[in-house]
Amino acid sequence: MSQPSETEGPSGGVLIVDFGAQYCQLIARRVRELGVYSRITVPERAMFTFQHMRPQAVILSGGPRSVYEHDAPALDAKILQQGVPVLGICYGLQWMSQNTGGQVTPAQSGAEYGRTELAVIDSKDLLAGCKRNGIVWMSHGDKVSKLGPGFEVFAKSEPCPFAVVGDRQRKFFGLQFHPEVAHTEDGSVMLRNFVLGIAKCSTNWNPGSLVDQKVAAVKKLVGEHGEVVMGLSGGVDSSVAAVLVHKAIGARLHCVFVDNGLLRAGEREGVEELFRDHYHMDLEVVDASERFLGELKGVTEPEAKRKIVGKVFVDVFRDKAKQKRNAKFLGQGTLYPDVIESVAAHGGATSTIKSHHNVGGLPKDLDMTLVEPLRDLFKDEVRALGRELGLPSSLVDRQPFPGPGLAVRCLGEVTRQKLEPLRGADRIVREEVEKRGLQKGLWQYFAVYLPQKSVGVKGDARVYEDVCMLRIVSSQDAMTADWELLPADVLKRISSRILNEVKGFSRVCLDISSKPPATIEWE
Ligand code: XMP
Repeated sequence: MSQPSETEGPSGGVLIVDFGAQYCQLIARRVRELGVYSRITVPERAMFTFQHMRPQAVILSGGPRSVYEHDAPALDAKILQQGVPVLGICYGLQWMSQNTGGQVTPAQSGAEYGRTELAVIDSKDLLAGCKRNGIVWMSHGDKVSKLGPGFEVFAKSEPCPFAVVGDRQRKFFGLQFHPEVAHTEDGSVMLRNFVLGIAKCSTNWNPGSLVDQKVAAVKKLVGEHGEVVMGLSGGVDSSVAAVLVHKAIGARLHCVFVDNGLLRAGEREGVEELFRDHYHMDLEVVDASERFLGELKGVTEPEAKRKIVGKVFVDVFRDKAKQKRNAKFLGQGTLYPDVIESVAAHGGATSTIKSHHNVGGLPKDLDMTLVEPLRDLFKDEVRALGRELGLPSSLVDRQPFPGPGLAVRCLGEVTRQKLEPLRGADRIVREEVEKRGLQKGLWQYFAVYLPQKSVGVKGDARVYEDVCMLRIVSSQDAMTADWELLPADVLKRISSRILNEVKGFSRVCLDISSKPPATIEWE
């Protein structure tokens, strides 16, 4: 993944400095939900980004370090002299205090984690409209022990006398807790008060309205004769990216869809119908299922299976891309979280963000220029753009499907004999959920193949067949998930259809494990 450039993207909005916070992306999303553009940067590049972006406000995130450690994340203190409002959150507040004449020390009663009740003293601006004794979510080992000149206390909590502080004249504010997490009551009110009330940021961010701008940017990058090759997976990101690029350069976009033999029922046909028949795109479908299944033969270890699928995909795609000799550009549906995570991986302050387990990625030896029209957008924003582009809801709102496909839902060795009943069961789950519109409250709903024989009776004969596991979960962001119970009649219908229509299962079971500790996928 390429590095993001500080010079790309709109100007104005909120610049968020990431000190390594677990919740940094959440802050950025909350700001964008207010209709205000936001961008995340690492401390080392904050001033450079500031100069290009000219933000209307700065938010300094939390982070796992101590400001008085010798190698603590360093931020140029000039950021405090730019005349824009600054909100420090946890570590961000401590850094701000340290750089405005205050003092930070380890919390005497030890670290303070979890729920705390706030006692509001001054509810004029930052805390306007907030409960007097709301619950907030703390997570800090150090705390501000002395405020610099000009700062006042707006709220305290039992162990923390400076829970909310501010210097109204310079428009510097600080929260010793996380306003961006759902457990903090009124957290979104505080962020709104800062972003809209205090900083008066322009509310001109509307991802759905970006189509023309994105199309123009692709045209400019690719030029009048450039050609782009792009892998289509049938998922939301690559589909929206392809439709955008196609709108910009038409037949000079060449899409490649790799059928890895691990797809769900009807997936390949759906992609062909939408992109070839409806959008009239140049689409090449490569049937590489033999190769994938060949390389997976005899492999049972989950990580090994994932790696094989990833590697074979890169090999197949690279060969195809090389055949398109005129294409000097490679289109990708990279999203903003991928960009942020790749910065973290390249030495940013963040150490806690989960590494993305996307398989594939960019074949490094291709030497092509990347076209990534979605690289400043979050997933829900890509969906809004997709809707604006007229993509059907069945695609834009579809449940996530992992890169390694059914390989991680077919436990043990992946074989055609197991994939076929798994595909059949998965189709039934989708049909029964979707025809009742039940997918709206769900993150994912699918079947898993468990190679565990159990005894059953079909007709008058004894059978000894495997287990079909149902996995039905709700989630906000896949980091955590809850199992969900479908209405009994729907479960009954799914179970009886699987046992009657699909050969290979003698039993249907329901997975009632939350994440954590269980992951959503079984492998
Ligand atoms: P887990 O199983 O880790 O999955 O709870 C979290 C979410 O990520 C999806 N997932 C993947 N997505 N490539 C992807 O693009 C992958 O390798 C992959 N593995 C899991 C999973 O479906 C769930 O939504």
